[in-house]
Amino acid sequence: MAILEVLKLGDPILRSVAGPVTAFDAHLRALGQDMLQTMHDAPGVGLAAPQVGTPIRMFVYDDSEGDAGIVCNPVIIERSDETEFGEEGCLSIPGLYMEVERHVAITVEGQNVDGEAWVRKVEDFVARIWQHEIDHLDGILFIDRLPPEVRKEAMRRLRENDFEMRPPTERL
Ligand code: NI
Repeated sequence: MAILEVLKLGDPILRSVAGPVTAFDAHLRALGQDMLQTMHDAPGVGLAAPQVGTPIRMFVYDDSEGDAGIVCNPVIIERSDETEFGEEGCLSIPGLYMEVERHVAITVEGQNVDGEAWVRKVEDFVARIWQHEIDHLDGILFIDRLPPEVRKEAMRRLRENDFEMRPPTERL
């Protein structure tokens, strides 16, 4: 296993739409293990393949309460009407934590690293992680989910390397 380099905001790969996983082979399993190790080392609760420079539709996650794994080709087939705000960060945008609105529950079709298909409904924190990671596969970062004025403020803080901010949502 190996610790992989995590790409940072500004790298065009983070803004590209990842292609489907097609080869469920030893190489894919090794990448999944390396991504799990990289995520745990960071530490983080989720990591998408484009973040380590491999633009395929795969992510790893670990909610640190026993729910962890590797997800390939995820498609959200149902979203709860109910949404909630929760704090998110991203290994590609170190130091920035913001309140992001997400669906409380989603139902996802996906495949494991062996290519076996499954459907799973996830809720709360795991649903938040999965929505964040699935966004990565479409070139979307959590800052894109912020209201325009809050996003502008976040970008300004990032440019100025000023992370001593309170989440602007508290001031809205
Ligand atoms: Ni992220």
